[in-house]
Amino acid sequence: MKLLSSEPYSATKACFLSAVGWLVVATSFGLLGAIELVAPDLVTIPWLLFGRIRPVHTNLVMFAFIGTTYLGTVFYVIPRLVRAPLFSERLANLTLWAWNLALVAAVISLMAGYTQAREYAELVWPLDIAILAVFALTLINGLETIRRRTENLLYVTVWYLMAGLAITWINYAIGNAVWNPSTGSVTGILDAILAWFYGHNVIGMFLTPFAVGMAYYILPRVSGRPLYSHTLSLVGFWSLVALYTHIGSHHLIQAPIPTWLKVVSIVDSIGMIIPVMVALTNLWLTMKDRLGTLHTNVGGKFVFAGTVWYFLVGIQGPLQSLPTVQRVTHFNNWVVAHAHIAVLGFSAMIAMGTIYFLLPEITEKKLYSERLADVHYWLMLFGVTSFFVVLTSAGLVQGNAWLNGETVYRMLPQLNVYLILRGLTGITIVLGAVIGFFNVFMSLMSRGEATP
Ligand code: HEM
Ligand code: HEM
Repeated sequence: MKLLSSEPYSATKACFLSAVGWLVVATSFGLLGAIELVAPDLVTIPWLLFGRIRPVHTNLVMFAFIGTTYLGTVFYVIPRLVRAPLFSERLANLTLWAWNLALVAAVISLMAGYTQAREYAELVWPLDIAILAVFALTLINGLETIRRRTENLLYVTVWYLMAGLAITWINYAIGNAVWNPSTGSVTGILDAILAWFYGHNVIGMFLTPFAVGMAYYILPRVSGRPLYSHTLSLVGFWSLVALYTHIGSHHLIQAPIPTWLKVVSIVDSIGMIIPVMVALTNLWLTMKDRLGTLHTNVGGKFVFAGTVWYFLVGIQGPLQSLPTVQRVTHFNNWVVAHAHIAVLGFSAMIAMGTIYFLLPEITEKKLYSERLADVHYWLMLFGVTSFFVVLTSAGLVQGNAWLNGETVYRMLPQLNVYLILRGLTGITIVLGAVIGFFNVFMSLMSRGEATP
């Protein structure tokens, strides 16, 4: 394999392989963190302490796994949808190299204790610049491909993938306060507002557009019929951009920020029901009477399950934005449960489905093992469902105890059983990731059976 190959689809293949490799690393760090929460004195090596490896876990799942899948998808799906070859395969490969190097540096620097200590914006300034460069190169490649298109209609997936990247570039630069290299922040309460404007946009304008965009690409193809409604797809897109971009302050309902900001974030969080349900109505009506097709398409199965989690997240999210609900759910494991059903159940499930769905197309060979992919599906589904049940229960116990005046430390022994269960069930997700890596690696390397 050449370093900067210009062979068609080489960048997407390398992206998908990197993504599943990162998934193994990312989930292993999650497991280590889960073990440390059960046995805090077990690990004493500074590089592996909870405070350092937690951001390694979160940054890797979001940027290294889902992000790398996103890049690979742009390099393959945009050219197909606009009926033009990718502007530069070589540039795409260069982009992936830069991205992977930045991610390796991110892991090492976080473990060594270099952090800017703002959630999802922990990375130090040089890495911020590297990440911005990667997004810019991907944007150039995508936009230049679109400029050379032979297809006039821009399908909604093109909108989601490209808008997600463009907004993320702006969000990343502003949210990481790149004009302040030494701190990566502004001061005081303004920084909390900025940090959560950024943090929720990573979720809303990076993870969500990718996942929804790919569900729009994959589900109609699995069902064998056109999308139910193009008009609805645009209503969903524009309402997402209009509402999701400024609800970050719902993370700060308990903090002394201006009331009007809280009100805007709460009202628009409730409004988020619109883009979520519009997209789901459109996708599910496309799949109506065709659910049987999922039995023979493992990629589609992952994606469909992701949309079901999106439904739950789209109900839970707005509800937990209400101050009365947050009085019980904030500052405890309830939010960690929400984070996992959203990022793992919705975005990561769709990212994995995207890889399994596109690989046979790109390699023109069947997956190395459909059965192993199916095992991966069930392991991941079991894992995320258990996280949801266990962590939500833990959160309710914690939240109600605090609401009734109980002190934090007296609750800790009662939490142990939930934390042990989270660690144990998390093993299935790590195992699934290892199986996924093996399957993708073998699908790329082995000769395999040609697709019909
Ligand atoms: C659809 C509408 C959604 C709404 C209204 C919503 C609302 C919220 C709220 C209010 C919180 C903060 C809870 C607290 O701290 O008490 C939160 C946290 C979070 N949400 Fe959502 N959410 C939505 C969808 C999503 C989606 C689609 C994702 C992922 C793709 C996601 C990922 C997260 C994460 C990771 C956190 C934890 C942030 C942290 O504290 O580190 N959410 N969400
Ligand atoms: C693709 C799979 C996964 C994704 C997308 C994911 C995502 C996340 C996210 C977004 C957070 C931040 C939560 C918040 O701030 O509220 C988080 C935290 C965490 N995750 Fe995961 N995770 C995954 C797999 C795992 C696995 C397999 C384990 C354990 C076995 C795990 C254990 C943890 C722990 C211990 C935390 C820290 C929770 C805390 O601070 O209390 N995760 N994960």
